[in-house]
Amino acid sequence: MSKPQVFVTRIIPDEGLEMVRTAADVDVWQGELPPPYDVLVEKIASVDGLLCLLTDTIDRGLIHAAGESLKVISQMAVGYDNIDIPAATERGIPIGNTPGVLTDATADFAWALLMAAARRVVEADKFTRDGHWKTWGPTLLLGPDIAGATLGIVGLGRIGQAVVKRAQGFQMRIVYHDIQRRPDLEEKMGVEFASLDSLLQESDFVSIHTVLSDETHHLFGDKQFELMKPSGILINTARGPIVDPIALYSALHNGKIAYAALDVTESEPIHADDPLLELENIIITPHIASASKQARTKMATMAAENLIAGLKGEDLPNCVNPEVYSLSA
Ligand code: GLV
Repeated sequence: MSKPQVFVTRIIPDEGLEMVRTAADVDVWQGELPPPYDVLVEKIASVDGLLCLLTDTIDRGLIHAAGESLKVISQMAVGYDNIDIPAATERGIPIGNTPGVLTDATADFAWALLMAAARRVVEADKFTRDGHWKTWGPTLLLGPDIAGATLGIVGLGRIGQAVVKRAQGFQMRIVYHDIQRRPDLEEKMGVEFASLDSLLQESDFVSIHTVLSDETHHLFGDKQFELMKPSGILINTARGPIVDPIALYSALHNGKIAYAALDVTESEPIHADDPLLELENIIITPHIASASKQARTKMATMAAENLIAGLKGEDLPNCVNPEVYSLSA
């Protein structure tokens, strides 16, 4: 019997690709950049499975272009805001994702950004390389203390909770906001619930860990930056469009907040002429929070497991739209 056909939209870690190769005939997009949309349209029309990344636009049009043979879409990421889930569900296509395995790597990176922003690590490195280090300076490159400060967590899901654990080691006061209050975690983790406005007013550091949705799009705009402390530091390792970049520029430029550290931006990659890149009080990294070797390997193997299960007609171990199973039953 011939093997199922699979399109993989980028070269992923070998461990995952090898698993897919044992189960399917695999066509891997070799480009450094994602395949163009018209390539996706052409491929999805004929394959049995698609293994994609968060850089691929899997919208309603693409899902409608899928052939009758398409059994599964497996995304190598925990987030899936690039995929039109209702459209996939209507067509009975299960969507896989990779939760859990990147939680610690992402929380570590959020913490790295928090510390780097507070203690101006990137600026300090540039200062040294540019030849400005003349002597030990009593007021050189000062930043705020992290220990004992107040941390606001927006979104107390898996990654938000993992950041809380790191903050506990720094004796921080931790407040959180989430659409779902979590009384079960409040005592256990020593976190206090707050409205978003109070969290912004009280926090020295605000770290975003919510999903991107219609409700969270530009959740951070002029009003929110106005509420933050002038010494406040914003960290975003979630999704770029949660923060309005024009409002952020104005807040950083006009001293409404002190600093920002972003691993994600509204458009990715950020345009070379984006005004945010002119600011000194911002760190911008290229969406690498989950980029530990271990996390990326586990994401690839988990994406392969979801894909292979879908090809066999089995339930995906991690399915974001399990309602497809009851619809088809
Ligand atoms: C990364 O941003 C992911 O969603 O896995």
